[in-house]
Amino acid sequence: MAGRIPESFINDLLGRVDIVDVIGPRVQLKKSGRNHKGLCPFHDEKTPSFNVNEDRQTYHCFGCEAHGTAIGFLMEYDSQTFPEAIETLASMVGMEVPREAGRGPKVDTGLYDVLGAAAREFQRWLRSGDAAAAVAYLRERGLSGEIARDFGIGLAPEGWDRLKTALASYGEQRLIDAGLLVRQEGGQRTYDRFRERIVFPIRNTRGRVIGFGGRVFGDGQPKYINSPETEVFRKGRELYGLYEARRAQRGLQSVVVVEGYMDVVALAQHGVTNAVATLGTAIGQSHFETLYRHVNLVVCCFDGDDAGRSAAWKAVDAAFPVLSETRQLKFVFLPEGEDPDTIVRDQGQEHFRNLLDEAVPVGEYFLDHLQEGLDLDQADGRALLAELAVPHIRRLPQGALQEILVNDLATRARMDPSAIARAARATIEPDDRRRHVEVPRATGEGGIGNKPLLKYVVQYPQLIDGMDPTVRADLADAADVSLLADVVRHLVEEPGMNTGTLIGCFVGRTGYDDLAAMAEEETLLPMEAIAGDMETRARRYVLERHGAALTRRAVESGLVEDAKRRSDAKVQQAL
Ligand code: UTP
Ligand code: MN
Repeated sequence: MAGRIPESFINDLLGRVDIVDVIGPRVQLKKSGRNHKGLCPFHDEKTPSFNVNEDRQTYHCFGCEAHGTAIGFLMEYDSQTFPEAIETLASMVGMEVPREAGRGPKVDTGLYDVLGAAAREFQRWLRSGDAAAAVAYLRERGLSGEIARDFGIGLAPEGWDRLKTALASYGEQRLIDAGLLVRQEGGQRTYDRFRERIVFPIRNTRGRVIGFGGRVFGDGQPKYINSPETEVFRKGRELYGLYEARRAQRGLQSVVVVEGYMDVVALAQHGVTNAVATLGTAIGQSHFETLYRHVNLVVCCFDGDDAGRSAAWKAVDAAFPVLSETRQLKFVFLPEGEDPDTIVRDQGQEHFRNLLDEAVPVGEYFLDHLQEGLDLDQADGRALLAELAVPHIRRLPQGALQEILVNDLATRARMDPSAIARAARATIEPDDRRRHVEVPRATGEGGIGNKPLLKYVVQYPQLIDGMDPTVRADLADAADVSLLADVVRHLVEEPGMNTGTLIGCFVGRTGYDDLAAMAEEETLLPMEAIAGDMETRARRYVLERHGAALTRRAVESGLVEDAKRRSDAKVQQAL
């Protein structure tokens, strides 16, 4: 991660950005006075109740209560992280985000510029006179100019140094760092990596080009080449098509994971605009983490052959630690010899959607797979099933999904669910909550309060609304000078704030850095799992804090001495 963004810069930035310029390109707005109205991007509606207020530099939806600042909007709408939102705003007003030194390597943002420029060159070449063969190829594969444009598809022309020449002003080293030039083995010469290929730009969720895939359109091997891993391109967590899917569908709920670039594009061509693909690698845990940040349902589409089945099992393994009852995973197996591209082209969107509707839930697939070849009429077959399944179930986060699987397994293995539950929990780490309880210091500067609790509040501020009102009031105690209490007071005063807006309240104040850092920390638990835990933590915190504060105040005011004296006096009287 790059260094911290200084608070002064954020103040400065918010002063220069106009929220209307941020929201305008993303939501169609109609001006009425200093207000701008439009259809709310956060819920379905037919009459506009989404308002952008130019004076206050905020947005508010009267329908779904979504509201916040420019930063919050980008975090919600584009699923950007806090620093990403700052970067986006800064680039809009031509400011460079300064970073305070001392926190990891700095990402070379110049790479984005080179890659973006390369994508534009490739697109230009596809539209130029000598692109006839490439265009014919795309046509033959059923792609329209419109889809090619949406996906930014381009052409790397014949020759060894077309891009190298076109982008010479960026410097050879930067072109190499971006993965666009290759150095001849053992030699001095460099040449274009992508030559005579159709190129698919790979964009991150903010829409910045981070790499390319290139397909031959004549004869040639290999069929595809891809950008190498670079500072901005991590194949283990990026997915082709995710940016395009989010742009095509507001409030994207689900994605279909397919194998290839062409599958993603062909599906979009036929109206299935939520397909994504890994980049020539198997799908891993980080891919799932990326996906579940944006959607609740992931449907993996695999070939029906052995390779496809083994890929699906690997996907189960990779997904288990991040699944929950609200982060669903399903599987579709295609007939042998087909891929989503051929299916949707031959049989149409409807047919493909039917396949998706019949997708198998992960739990069912998981148990079916383990059960293959076992005889469940025999006691040892059933025992073996349980033995095979338990270590996997243990890797699921605790919660309803794990319980469902425990029960399903118990039914199939004809065992007592509580025995399986115990086995599944056997090696789960003991509860670590106790170690985290810190009582705020009485020094006046407050301290954080309780870090794990505050982190939950920052990441899921809406959970405060559902909390027991007395616990919430105790947390927001006006006499409490901790950051936690301060944050809760803000949320009680203005319910419904999102993370970005909440952090925005602290810009330029002590605690801002802590809050921004907490917003960034990865939380694997889903919101539902956190809600209960948060309340437990809150109760315990309030109790301990209360106890500590009472004792402290009592000592400070001499009450304790008093009480002792009084009881001593009573004892003496009694004598
Ligand atoms: P496929 O061989 O299934 O190709 O590779 P495809 O997507 O169906 O492509 P078309 O329909 O023949 O055009 C699936 C994915 O595997 C990676 C690419 O990411 C490709 O999209 N791959 C494949 C490579 O990286 N290199 C290759 O040589 C082949
Ligand atoms: Mn294909």
